[in-house]
Amino acid sequence: MNLNVNGRRREVESPPLTTLLDVLREELGIHSPKIGCEQGGCGACTVLVAGKPRRACLLPVGALDGAAITTVEGLGGPDDLDPLQAAFVHHYAAQCGFCTSGLLMAAKAYIANGGTDDSRAIAEALGGHVCRCTGYVKIVDAVAAAARGDEFDLSTTAAGQYTTMHSGG
Ligand code: FES
Ligand code: FES
Repeated sequence: MNLNVNGRRREVESPPLTTLLDVLREELGIHSPKIGCEQGGCGACTVLVAGKPRRACLLPVGALDGAAITTVEGLGGPDDLDPLQAAFVHHYAAQCGFCTSGLLMAAKAYIANGGTDDSRAIAEALGGHVCRCTGYVKIVDAVAAAARGDEFDLSTTAAGQYTTMHSGG
């Protein structure tokens, strides 16, 4: 069977009952979806399937032949951040980062569907995503900023200053 992962056709050889999460991580080497509860309860494994946020730990890959899958690797990289990723950096919305991939994908779908910077609506859209590190406030702030289309100069954030300091720049 085949998947379209981040715009690229990928042939999959895993048995059909293998979870999408295991296929992405173990067969295709895409590690942004995280292995958390593996029971649908934490959101760490969330990816987009045909644009909708889905728990990859619950999806047997055999039901997804031909499906379009998007992971964080399809959003942007270190030198080409998606505006949502930039908002997370600017607002310090990630600490250990374990939950961040899943939150980014859920937030991406929220904004793509016309989501606004309303904090209650954002909290509802991100419901069920467990972050063990933060109080969620910065996460909601980041999604709100991205929904508004805020722009950031990341060189002025503490994270940017830290990178500059430690790269000798
Ligand atoms: Fe899939 Fe927790 S690992 S929801
Ligand atoms: Fe650590 Fe969310 S940033 S679990």
